[in-house]
Amino acid sequence: MSQWNPAKGLRIAIDGPSGSGKGTIAVMVGEALGLAVMDTGLLYRFLGWRANDLGVDLDDESAVVAVIDNAVADMDWRAEGIFFENRDCTPLLRGEDVGACASKVAAIPSVRKQLLELQRKIAASGCVMDGRDIGTVVLPDAEAKFFLTASPRERARRRWEQLQQGGEEVALDQIVDDLKARDARDSGRDCSPLERAKDAIEIDSTTMRIDEVVDRILAVLERRKLIS
Ligand code: DC
Repeated sequence: MSQWNPAKGLRIAIDGPSGSGKGTIAVMVGEALGLAVMDTGLLYRFLGWRANDLGVDLDDESAVVAVIDNAVADMDWRAEGIFFENRDCTPLLRGEDVGACASKVAAIPSVRKQLLELQRKIAASGCVMDGRDIGTVVLPDAEAKFFLTASPRERARRRWEQLQQGGEEVALDQIVDDLKARDARDSGRDCSPLERAKDAIEIDSTTMRIDEVVDRILAVLERRKLIS
């Protein structure tokens, strides 16, 4: 039982680059408030993984678009993860290679458009939603918005630690390079790039512990009377 009582239908948007800690923080805020946590990166990861699995060249936009309708129809997005053919395929989607596929698919405007209504519908009853464009495009009217950042080196270190824990051995320098490439693609794309919404609160977590970031978010929500 949560100690907090969130306002009815409260939607909290948490955006930030890869490794900013948004996923972990979204889960902790969701747990503290008893709200569903929706990781939108998983949507793009699933589509990237599925298209790649079907042998589609991810640099060929029309080839990707041709398989997207069916892929979206086959996907079941829940707070627990992404289900495909009645199985939770989330663990398959967490790797660096799938992240790179996701980033390519995510740059295609019609792919993003396909996912827009789905994300809004899921968020309507209240949730913590994390991604890149939640505060700017998906939920521009979210009751609370946060933008998390951290230095590139620290973000790469966190990602490395996460992969190690999952049994994936990748050199730190390789992660720094991948992260820079992904940042450039996510921030530089024309459609819904990663950017801070004007009304989002920015938190730089480079030297903060995760629980400190969570406490700061809860304090903002309490001050704004969005939780009691
Ligand atoms: O957060 P993540 O690493 O799981 O996201 C995977 C990719 O999906 C990332 O390169 C950016 C993209 N993405 C996006 O464009 N918009 C979102 N709302 C979430 C993720």
